[in-house]
Amino acid sequence: MNAFIRDIPKAELHIHIEGSLEPELMFALAQRNNVSLPYPSVEAVRAAYQFQNLQSFLDLYYAGTAVLRTEQDFYDLTWAYLQRCVQQNVRHAEIFFDPQSHTERGIPFEVVHAGLYRALQDAKQKWGITSYLILCFLRHLSAKSAMATLERSLPFKSTILAVGLDSSELGHPPSKFQKVFDRARDEGFLTVAHAGEEGPAAYIWEAIRSLGVARIDHGVRCTDDPELVDYLAQQQIPLTVCPLSNIKLCVFNSMQQHNLKHLLELGLCVTVNSDDPSYFGGYIAENYEAIQSALHLSHQDIYRLARNSFSASFLPPHEKQSRLNELDRFMAAVV
Ligand code: HPA
Ligand code: ZN
Repeated sequence: MNAFIRDIPKAELHIHIEGSLEPELMFALAQRNNVSLPYPSVEAVRAAYQFQNLQSFLDLYYAGTAVLRTEQDFYDLTWAYLQRCVQQNVRHAEIFFDPQSHTERGIPFEVVHAGLYRALQDAKQKWGITSYLILCFLRHLSAKSAMATLERSLPFKSTILAVGLDSSELGHPPSKFQKVFDRARDEGFLTVAHAGEEGPAAYIWEAIRSLGVARIDHGVRCTDDPELVDYLAQQQIPLTVCPLSNIKLCVFNSMQQHNLKHLLELGLCVTVNSDDPSYFGGYIAENYEAIQSALHLSHQDIYRLARNSFSASFLPPHEKQSRLNELDRFMAAVV
């Protein structure tokens, strides 16, 4: 089963590139850039990754970005993630980045963007991995700051497919960013948003109605509202679910209690993703493995999840179909 999970062609639709910063690279970059870290060793960093909720994670996650300073740093970060994609047969990735966590530290937007984008182009050349960038606004900051960030991104519009919304959910409802998302859609961006991770089902409705999102990131709390579940199923609005994240951040008490299988049974377009793999203990394959063993998912369930990952992607129809064909050839060869 684990080899099947590793090898099945899949897409990743919910990965924060800053959340793929492994402690080893954090230390290497700290040294390269003369940044001092509040940890004596790589082991001490890993030991600090015990979270009570989303905020306790975010505090460490933002602190970790301090080592990222040059274009090459952003390239190296992205390249390390793309090597994991090769190992786990991720054929397409839609990657979040948080420009505000860098511009607030004085790192120019174009430095961040150039490093990420160059790595993505190199991976396409070298391995045929396709990818899109999704610019996320930090919802704990103001709508004004988000609007300024959107404006900053416009010269790079042709290389950024969508905008999203992340960071502290509770107290920062999607409607706070309605004007920013209206402007983003006018400029041609697609939209997604984190909703219903720690926040209520009402935030999922808001993301759909106020922000016009094509997908919901997380969304696991939708089951609190049966009408919403019906709507998500009917419209096939995908959820990008992140099992290890949900356990690490105490959204569910245990993997056995995760509602992913229930969501599939309700007919929702559920996908499996890693969120912040360095912080939550695994990349996409480890997420599939953890949920498979806890909920006794079948090979057919795994196939369904992989299929959903391509269907829910923003690939144009012909590329989507070619990825789905690749998936079906893989299935025909293994059964
Ligand atoms: N939720 C909200 N913000 C985030 C997350 C998350 O899971 N990961 C990185 N930023
Ligand atoms: Zn996330």
